[in-house]
Amino acid sequence: MRVLVVGGGGREHALAWALARSPSVTEVHAAPGNPGIARVATCHPVGVGDIPGLVDLAARLAADLVVIGPEAPLAAGLADALEQRGIAAFGPKKSGARLEASKTFAKQVMEFAGIPTADARTFESASAAISYVQEQGGPVVVKADGLAAGKGVTVCDGPADAKAAILEAMEQHRFGEAGNTVLIEERMEGPELSILAFCDGESVLPLPAAQDFKRSLDGDLGPNTGGMGSYSPVPVATDAVIEEAMDKILNPVAAQLGRMGRYYVGVIYAGLMLTPAGLKVVEFNCRFGDPETQAVLPRLESDLGELMAATTQGELAGMKVACCDQACVTVVAASGGYPEADPLKTGFEITGLEQAEALGVQIFHSGTAERDGKLVTSGGRVLSVSALGDDLAGARGLAYRALEEIGFEGMRNRSDIASGY
Ligand code: AMP
Ligand code: GLY
Repeated sequence: MRVLVVGGGGREHALAWALARSPSVTEVHAAPGNPGIARVATCHPVGVGDIPGLVDLAARLAADLVVIGPEAPLAAGLADALEQRGIAAFGPKKSGARLEASKTFAKQVMEFAGIPTADARTFESASAAISYVQEQGGPVVVKADGLAAGKGVTVCDGPADAKAAILEAMEQHRFGEAGNTVLIEERMEGPELSILAFCDGESVLPLPAAQDFKRSLDGDLGPNTGGMGSYSPVPVATDAVIEEAMDKILNPVAAQLGRMGRYYVGVIYAGLMLTPAGLKVVEFNCRFGDPETQAVLPRLESDLGELMAATTQGELAGMKVACCDQACVTVVAASGGYPEADPLKTGFEITGLEQAEALGVQIFHSGTAERDGKLVTSGGRVLSVSALGDDLAGARGLAYRALEEIGFEGMRNRSDIASGY
């Protein structure tokens, strides 16, 4: 199979890397890719926003499968455009991608399907939203309705910080149009887990669960980011918890989308919270998680290309996912100032990757670029280090040991990823 991966972040690096290792895959291409992806795939300079350009590229390459990494091209209809040209796409069409692109839509789907989630109300006016949080009085979560690169959510202790978050989204337009509508949610408590599951429109097949660290600072402090680290397996995700997730959440959401005519092919990402009242959905995404993918795929023993092809062909029923018993811990190295600084300072040389890799870890590039023959930073999340070990503590020790070898000006990372095991 000739596969084209769309995207240029750490998730896409992990996808391209796992596809390159798949016996069913003979060639991996990426658009636009990044310097790390270029080590496992042929990169083509077509951006993720250029839908016609991506379709033309896929046609020119005679790609058997296009794997769409980020949410933006999915929400913009890349899978629809590929289908029109007869090219198989791994990723839902625009109608299915609304599961992530509109949090209000996702809430409606959950309500129709009876899927447990936080109570929420939608507001289009800041003053009405503020009155509501003042009435509520207690902790709430303020969410921009649309796509905000994982940063549109503010977990609030009470009306004062909720008001600030509402004003930031609705009046200061910090998330652009994505914040014109906000959701105010009940604040839930409990450990979180992410389940990435293949969905062929009918059957749902989960990968092992992962946990993501969304806050920027140790101890889950600071603002939300795209994700500062992850690990898999997740000890709280017992077989019973996974069964509950399948029965109450993943199978019902796939069936509901099917009933609504949104034939969903790709990955459903369920962000879940294990609350005292059982599993509840925090969010759905319409694609692989970043950095969960970087912690899950190194454990995958199955042929990723084969699983993806089966997904697009409606042939998941009866397939299995094989994973190694080892644990994987992924730690993200970010640029100084991420996620708040605007603009971020980038362009700094990155050193020590070979020494880190010599320790046996996998490095996935997120925001890197090549300049004058040197590898430099080019984004908020720069790279991640994924380490396998016999258990989480072992994997964690190796990931942090390898990270010590890596340096760039302003580099920062959380020091508590997968701690406590
Ligand atoms: P989201 O982008 O919707 O996944 O939200 C980002 C993070 O905010 C989640 O991973 C949770 O840690 C937190 N969060 C979102 N919604 C809630 C909620 N209703 N209650 C508590 N925490 C939440
Ligand atoms: N890790 C969170 C996300 O991919 O949205």
